Amino acid sequence: MAKKVFIEPWIDKTGWKAGDFGDIQTPCYVVDKNRLEKNLKILAKVQKDTGCKILIALKGFAMFSVFGIIRKYLCGVAASSLNETRLGFEEFKKEVHVFSPAYTEKDFAGIMRYADHIVFNSFSQWKKYRRRVLHKKISCGIRVNPEHSEVKISFYDPCGSLSRLGVTMENFEPKNLKGIEGLHFHCLCENNADALGRTLKVFEKKFGEFLPQMKWVNFGGGHHITRKNYDIKLLCQIIKDFKKRYPHLQIYLEPGEAIALNAGVLVARVIDIFKNKMNIAILDVSAACHMPDVLEMPYWPQILGAGKRNQYPYVYRLGGPSCLAGDIIGDYSSPKPLTIGSKLIFFNMVIYTMVKNTTFNGMQLPSIALRDKMGKIKVIKKFGYKDFKNRLS
Ligand SMILES: Cc1ncc(COP(=O)(O)O)c(C=O)c1O
Repeated sequence: MAKKVFIEPWIDKTGWKAGDFGDIQTPCYVVDKNRLEKNLKILAKVQKDTGCKILIALKGFAMFSVFGIIRKYLCGVAASSLNETRLGFEEFKKEVHVFSPAYTEKDFAGIMRYADHIVFNSFSQWKKYRRRVLHKKISCGIRVNPEHSEVKISFYDPCGSLSRLGVTMENFEPKNLKGIEGLHFHCLCENNADALGRTLKVFEKKFGEFLPQMKWVNFGGGHHITRKNYDIKLLCQIIKDFKKRYPHLQIYLEPGEAIALNAGVLVARVIDIFKNKMNIAILDVSAACHMPDVLEMPYWPQILGAGKRNQYPYVYRLGGPSCLAGDIIGDYSSPKPLTIGSKLIFFNMVIYTMVKNTTFNGMQLPSIALRDKMGKIKVIKKFGYKDFKNRLS
């Protein structure tokens, strides 16, 4: 999930300046097509060099208006619900894989219409549904939990103690593998390739004996492949070495963050400034509603031209317009004073944001805009009262 500590210097990389956003109405997410495509080219090269297939994990980024670009490079989607499965089927139109900790009867019937790969989280679920899927053209897999933790924050560690994600070795049922064609693990979060290497060793030690009877293995997400210091060479070597050991297996990766990492911003505005022992600025974006990982992770998101608390002379606590006391984005400093109406550009704000937004407090959802290769920004979606009201009754 989105900790976003590995921010690249946008201004140098993209030439974006606060002025580029002109009089864009805020709040607004702006996705940069160039940056998105740059990430996709990196992922496509990994596929080409190793023979693995990369899926986009829709839970991190599901902006279907750019699926046309993404599908040029990636092989399909990894969905986590009936809604995502249907979106992938209708809008992405390539492979549709789905994993959920548990499927309800009703959702499962829908999922069977749209998915070509279904991953089960337990043998109990597999045994419940296997008769229904076996005569369909659906390839089924089991998610395993290698019980190897690489993620330091327990909230994001799928292999932590008493995890509900994946079957542990102790609970694996070899006698119920008939019909299972793949094994899936997801153990990483914003990790480098070395973490995959260590995870794979444990995975193979525990579950390697079942691989000869499989057709595919899914290495999950959490591979921060498009990050600046990610060791792509090592990733490719790890995949190729695995492939040498199991040449019959198709390898899948399903990153979310890596797809649109640093490929978009959230443009916000200051709507009030006052003091309570320090300067407090209220913005038209909310940590709770529009950038929830700031509170969940938690992390301090970077702002174009601003710095940490004591870097510049003018210090502000930035908060959202909701009534939640903890709706605080963070403390920042600026080389010049902020004024009401000042525009602020939050970096790396299109992953795990649009997909997680809420209208808590009746909060306005940020519009969504695309920046094309010429630098022109076009708002492609606006939200209003109906979007808030439709979710209530
Ligand atoms: C099963 C599964 N696959 C893929 C992902 C995508 O992970 P990331 O966005 O960290 O690459 C997640 C994230 O939680 C996940 O749970």
